[in-house]
Amino acid sequence: MDIVYKTLGLPAELLSKVPGIGPIVKACCTSVGQKILMAITGLSLVGFLVVHLGGNFNLFAGEAAFNGYAEKLHSLGPLLAIAETKLFAIFALHLGLALSTRAMSARARKSGYEKTESKQSGFLIPNGGAANMMFITGLILGGYVVLHVLDMKINIWKFDAGESKYALVRMVLRDPLHWGVYLVALIALGIHLSHGISSAFQTLGISHPRWNKILRFLSVALAWLIAGGFMSLLVWAYAFEAR
Ligand code: HEM
Repeated sequence: MDIVYKTLGLPAELLSKVPGIGPIVKACCTSVGQKILMAITGLSLVGFLVVHLGGNFNLFAGEAAFNGYAEKLHSLGPLLAIAETKLFAIFALHLGLALSTRAMSARARKSGYEKTESKQSGFLIPNGGAANMMFITGLILGGYVVLHVLDMKINIWKFDAGESKYALVRMVLRDPLHWGVYLVALIALGIHLSHGISSAFQTLGISHPRWNKILRFLSVALAWLIAGGFMSLLVWAYAFEAR
């Protein structure tokens, strides 16, 4: 197991020796630094999801509207490529941090260190509900994103949608196996965000004893609004005839 911890820590170990960025990397390697980075990357991903959901709502407006939106997006060319590279880097960092904090806590447990992390440590504390499902729901989402990009950007299953992105989305979502997998992933998304968003706010110091209950409620509401918004597209795929 030690070899796994060492391999996971190698990039950070090397970067921490680079003059200039070394101290920053070292700060980010502490458990507090990692939590802050997880919060920032997590909230950035929530931002992406809100924009992505907004774009996907063009599906309700019919084929011409959605394909027009997709074309506009692709006409950004290199700008889109840069944005997507950044997005995947943020995904990778968020996942890498989850694995590394998990490895750190496993190592701490092995050496008999008593954990004192706060409830905001997410998947580490058995405080019930979504908090201790962060890791498993995160893994489901990681697998889902790979499948989803292969579906929508590469059309790996060769759905016969011609040049129409609208037809492709519809065919993917009307395929029963895809429909089921997407539903499971979107439930995992709701659970993950319902703890993740409020946890990120707490980590970043956005909390106050008077407002914590309402902040938590708003975070859970936002989480299920996002997940529910995507789920409405699963309903759309079956419920309405193509326009
Ligand atoms: C029913 C729900 C969803 C639909 C219909 C949908 C639709 C799409 C489509 C059409 C694309 C391709 C865009 C392009 O041509 O460039 C795409 C890309 C992508 N989607 Fe989704 N999406 C859904 C849910 C999600 C969720 C829940 C996530 C994340 C957890 C996600 C993450 C991504 C990512 C990372 C990309 C590639 C980056 C991009 O091109 O924007 N999607 N999605």
